[in-house]
Amino acid sequence: MTQRLAERHTHNAKLDVLDVAPIQLANLKRKLHASSNVGLLLNDSTHLELEDNSYQDSLLFFLLHEQPWKERIATLKEAFRVTRPRGQLIIVDYHQPFAWSPLRYCLPPLLNKLEPFAMDLWKYDIHQWLPAGVSSENILKKTYFGGLYQKLQISLPA
Ligand SMILES: C[S@@+](CC[C@H](N)C(=O)[O-])C[C@H]1O[C@@H](n2cnc3c(N)ncnc32)[C@H](O)[C@@H]1O
Repeated sequence: MTQRLAERHTHNAKLDVLDVAPIQLANLKRKLHASSNVGLLLNDSTHLELEDNSYQDSLLFFLLHEQPWKERIATLKEAFRVTRPRGQLIIVDYHQPFAWSPLRYCLPPLLNKLEPFAMDLWKYDIHQWLPAGVSSENILKKTYFGGLYQKLQISLPA
């Protein structure tokens, strides 16, 4: 996905990918074309070493389900801090599948074992952890694969 995002950039745009695990950044580096204009930043999403309003848009891709409650709140606060007014914050993560989906019944034992915080994304709406003052009018939510995944597109006010 990173390579494809980078290919859609206009000439002076820059994409930074941030992870707290060096091995994840090393894996990504192997997959990127040598010419990709992608910065790899070793950083903790709960305490970003970045200036306020550093980015036009930000994406949290399958990160929130990895984190305990308090860290999830801190990550979202940081994501809002570094994203510019009028920018967008996109969040992609787990979501509770619809009642007709077999995944709703067979995934929980596996998720509980492998991803201890993931069920929070099934039980609660992401609005729950957003900083105070984010209006639901600025949030567009879509679900995918029978509800297993969700995408939130949050437009930051001016
Ligand atoms: C499920 S993986 C998704 C990885 C990557 N986005 C991808 O699609 O391959 C979640 C990632 O979040 C990273 N992560 C977990 N806690 C983090 C934190 N506090 N700050 C930054 N990255 C974190 C993990 O190291 C892991 O690479």
